[in-house]
Amino acid sequence: MPSLEPFHILPKAPSLVGGHMNRLIVAAGALLSLTLASGAFAQTAGDPDAGKKVFRKCMACHAVGEGAKNKIGPELNGIVGEKPGAVEGYSFSPAFQEWAADKAAWNEELMTAWLTNPRDVVKGTKMVFPGIKKEQEMVDIIAYLASFDEAGATRDPAEALADAAAQ
Ligand code: HEC
Repeated sequence: MPSLEPFHILPKAPSLVGGHMNRLIVAAGALLSLTLASGAFAQTAGDPDAGKKVFRKCMACHAVGEGAKNKIGPELNGIVGEKPGAVEGYSFSPAFQEWAADKAAWNEELMTAWLTNPRDVVKGTKMVFPGIKKEQEMVDIIAYLASFDEAGATRDPAEALADAAAQ
């Protein structure tokens, strides 16, 4: 399994840019510029292990990881970096399909908006979820989702988020 260390360090250490972390900064450059540009969550980073606990809020409707299947909502393997509304065998609402049509990929920004209040993003979505209000929970759940690839195996979440931001 790839080391998750850079992801833990990155957001807590924006002040170290230019220090001894050049290798990390190059790897996570796209993510960093996204978070700094948006001004959101620039100070905090996601912890996939903590995000696993936040995922309890999703489990009534979603599965992720090995053998994940569609439930009330689509399975979420590889969702970060994936085109919205593209999960095979899942029937998205018409409202969601219309919204997803011109979206390239789930990145941190889009996912944050969605999980803050799905109905603000897609009026008429069938995801009935009150939203995540705490900033730390938000970055943690996104890191957790980002840590699974299409097949449900683990991957480096920082890399997945950087790739998604570049799409
Ligand atoms: C009560 C059930 C329910 C809960 C709880 C729920 N979801 Fe959903 N989710 C859905 C449904 C239903 C859809 C499909 C939306 C549509 O088609 O309008 C969906 C769609 C999604 C999508 C879009 C998937 C894609 O392929 O584009 C993501 C991402 C997502 N949910 C993440 C989450 C996360 C993360 C949580 C927990 C923090 C969560 N959901 C909680 C029911 C739920």
